[in-house]
Amino acid sequence: MGCQQFSDCLKGVIKRIMRPDDANIAGNVHGGTILKMIEEAGAIISTRHCNSQSGEKCVAALARVERTDFLSPMCIGEVGNVSAEITYTSKHSVEVQVNVLAENILTGAKRLTNRATLWYVPLSLTNVDKVVEVPPIEYERQELEEAGRKRYEDQKLERLETKQRNGEYILPVVNPDQYTVGYSQSSLIHLVGPSDCTLHGYVHGGVTMKLMDEVAGIVAARHCKTNIVTASVDAINFHRKIQKGCIITISGRMTFTSNKSMEIEVFVDADTLVGESQEKYRAVSAFFTYVSLSKEAKPLPVPQLVY
Ligand SMILES: CC(C)(COP(=O)(O)OP(=O)(O)OC[C@H]1O[C@@H](n2cnc3c(N)ncnc32)[C@H](O)[C@@H]1OP(=O)(O)O)[C@@H](O)C(=O)NCCC(=O)NCCS
Repeated sequence: MGCQQFSDCLKGVIKRIMRPDDANIAGNVHGGTILKMIEEAGAIISTRHCNSQSGEKCVAALARVERTDFLSPMCIGEVGNVSAEITYTSKHSVEVQVNVLAENILTGAKRLTNRATLWYVPLSLTNVDKVVEVPPIEYERQELEEAGRKRYEDQKLERLETKQRNGEYILPVVNPDQYTVGYSQSSLIHLVGPSDCTLHGYVHGGVTMKLMDEVAGIVAARHCKTNIVTASVDAINFHRKIQKGCIITISGRMTFTSNKSMEIEVFVDADTLVGESQEKYRAVSAFFTYVSLSKEAKPLPVPQLVY
């Protein structure tokens, strides 16, 4: 019996109290931590849905995240409520819409902090290179299916038009001038361990997004030397898997400053050290927007990038 028989199967909620180790230096929850929670909720319901019929067992891999805005900060001590819902299925992909609410545990008051749309693709449990078919969902109204098909076709078109940026690397700069790109560019190097990975032994999309947000935050803080927060993340496509044992280098550089915001480009490069084929490749790239905050948490003008 398929999931479409039980509408609850298409919905899922994760709740957890936000703790001091989730905090950025401004005392709010890291944007990357929220992205990771969003991805976990999406991975759970899409994997559950794709295994709801007696077909081949599979694990849903994150293929794309649509542009996401951070509407309001989540504070330490609040309860993060992440609710995910399957809103469209194509033959081989699942669209999940996620809302994040911050709940005041004392009063029960809730406010919306994020909304995100993610696309997952089910990969066979026994053959990670095989994409399996997604059981279709039933829509409450035909308009919902039509609107979903339009979102699916739009993102497919956008993917064809925006080619992945390969081959560009961020090289170290000796004695960079203040406020140039080289002044704030930064990298993190991470060995992919079992706790970063899915049942297949490949990195969770949320883990990658958290590391990407960390690098973007370092670039922003180095540039403006204030407290900074993630304002938004542009659409991200996850073209290539990253296997356990890989070394990943996550590099960020500032690409644009407006009066009160900074655009930061982040690349994730994977290096397969272990195994038969050794390869270096660009796994993901994305643009993050950051805002600099005063001590009173008001947006500040940012020093302009010097080209
Ligand atoms: C997702 C992935 C399996 C797709 O591989 P592919 O060779 O493009 O597969 P196909 O062309 O057969 O497409 C399979 C389905 O995926 C969908 N798809 C592929 N790339 C997508 C993307 N970036 N966004 C949304 N959907 C995508 C296709 O539309 C297709 O569904 P459809 O037939 O219903 O239209 C592959 O890109 C991959 O492994 N990416 C990495 C996934 C991962 O590890 N995520 C975490 C990264 S840290």
